[in-house]
Amino acid sequence: MSTVVETDVLIVGSGPAGASAALALSTYGVPNIVVTRYASLADTPRAHITNQRTMEVLRDLGVEEQVVAQATPQHLMGNTTFCTSLAGEELGRVRSWGNDPLVQAEHELASPTRMCDMPQHLMEPVLVNAAVARGTRLRFQNEYLSHTQDADGVTATVRDRLRGDTYEIRAKYLIGADGGRSKVAADAGLPMGGQMGVAGSVNIVFEADLGKYTAHRPSTLYWVLAPGATVGGIGAGLVRCVRPWNEWLIVWGYDVNAGAPDLTTEYAESVVRQLVGDDDIPVTVKSSSAWTVNEMYAQSYANGRVFCAGDAVHRHPPSNGLGSNTSIQDAYNLAWKLRLVLDGTAHPRLLDSYTAERAPVGRQVVTRANRSIRETAPVFEALDGLAPQTPEQLWANIAARKDATEAAEKQRAKLREAIAFKVYEFNAHGVDLNQRYSAESSAAIVPDGTPDPGFARDPELHHQPSSRPGARLPHAWITSGTRTLSTLDTIGRGRFTLLTGIGGEDWVRAAEAQEVEIATVVIGPGQQYEDPYGDWARLREIPDAGALLVRPDGFVAFRHAGARPDAGELLADALRRILGHA
Ligand code: FDA
Repeated sequence: MSTVVETDVLIVGSGPAGASAALALSTYGVPNIVVTRYASLADTPRAHITNQRTMEVLRDLGVEEQVVAQATPQHLMGNTTFCTSLAGEELGRVRSWGNDPLVQAEHELASPTRMCDMPQHLMEPVLVNAAVARGTRLRFQNEYLSHTQDADGVTATVRDRLRGDTYEIRAKYLIGADGGRSKVAADAGLPMGGQMGVAGSVNIVFEADLGKYTAHRPSTLYWVLAPGATVGGIGAGLVRCVRPWNEWLIVWGYDVNAGAPDLTTEYAESVVRQLVGDDDIPVTVKSSSAWTVNEMYAQSYANGRVFCAGDAVHRHPPSNGLGSNTSIQDAYNLAWKLRLVLDGTAHPRLLDSYTAERAPVGRQVVTRANRSIRETAPVFEALDGLAPQTPEQLWANIAARKDATEAAEKQRAKLREAIAFKVYEFNAHGVDLNQRYSAESSAAIVPDGTPDPGFARDPELHHQPSSRPGARLPHAWITSGTRTLSTLDTIGRGRFTLLTGIGGEDWVRAAEAQEVEIATVVIGPGQQYEDPYGDWARLREIPDAGALLVRPDGFVAFRHAGARPDAGELLADALRRILGHA
């Protein structure tokens, strides 16, 4: 055993959770080390759908433009297609990922950012490069083996896989961002609910110019209803675009009880041929791997000084594209809290709010993603294609929908309805943006006595902004001189922000008098920021002289509906609760 390396935060894993934890911590000036088992970052595309909330996080962390520059843009994501193969019959489409005109309007109203398709092997380098440039010390081929913790810190034993020896890292806190087989979560004894290995899936990455089947209906996802497509997997065969239109990833199921198939090149090519449906197109298989669909979530994300994030605490299939999004958002929730505890501003109790806020989100995401798989079955049912049968029977059922009979008309309607229902997977804007933290479970949210407004429309499909404590600050376009910016651009960068309007001078003075850094934002005619469209006035749910205190992660922590001469005391009380001193 050699010398002990010291740091404030040790992060195990350089996937979306670990890389974004490192990026946020380094941005906030917190010393951190990342150890990661392999010699490189993700070498396959994996997660890709990047939703507006994640883009807001990346905007705050200063890497939004880099992601946009490399990602497939939103307008090329949106024709989720159901077909018998890419070259075969098309059964229907869903306008997806904000590309339905009505949903597009909701996206534009909800956020200054656009969702995009950013494959994980491109995302990780952006996050990691920025983290390292800001101070993260990164060690490839370094494997976490175990840890112990005491009152002052955590000691992790790490194996250097290049040299073959082990050493210790002493940190004040440990983040386990080590993925779906997390050893850190297991060693910390985090209680898990649900089940691993619900179904079997194979990913096949390949190159082929499929533009003639895709460019006229640009999409991230092409679902293939073919014989065998309901065995295991994620609802049907999937041809997913990695780069338009010549890099692809197929997801194909297998019977988990029978074990994974032998992933030979011949096997991979045969699956590609079946789903593409055109033997004349040259195909180069790059890699294939087997994985299982999981339905598992941790009830607690922390034990003492050990915190887990990402797949370590929520394991679910790729449906709805929530994997890396939720992982990045976990890390963003945790990083500012660690920073304030480490610099002595907050009591360690603040860290209890991490589980209180993120575990319900993780559970919701796991449930939604698995439900989305089951909601594909009605598409097959509409074609009498669920029961085991010969390929000829399936093709005959599919062909029957073209008949001029009453039965065929019913079948066409059933198919249309089943495909349209898939908006819960492909256009679930509420799932992406409606996360609200409860003041009943999280002390980092101060209740303001108002009743929970709930949701006027389906909360999975529609985003509903709110400024009530626990909600993310609503986005509105405001101006500063000739500059147009989002209310979300006035917050973040690791600081609390107090937003008020004309008549809110007491709140501004109160914010400036606090020990913790609070940026102040005054919005109104002739003020630092103006609201020319009146959007902010419509969304803020408080009068001009009221106040919103927004946390570094963009969630409203405290709200008051009007001017108060004792604003200083009110704000100090709120901060004591939020920072765990109360
Ligand atoms: P992630 O698994 O990305 O990262 C874990 C990190 O920990 C890695 O850097 C790993 O090397 C490291 N690590 C693990 N054990 C360690 C140890 N003992 N010591 C040091 N380092 C250790 N999602 C999706 O939406 N669509 C998709 O198509 C796919 N496809 C897919 C394919 C494959 C093969 C995988 C593994 C995963 C997917 N996913 C996916 C899931 C998606 O990739 C996942 O939700 C996110 O990557 C989760 O991010 P994390 O950072 O939590 O874990």
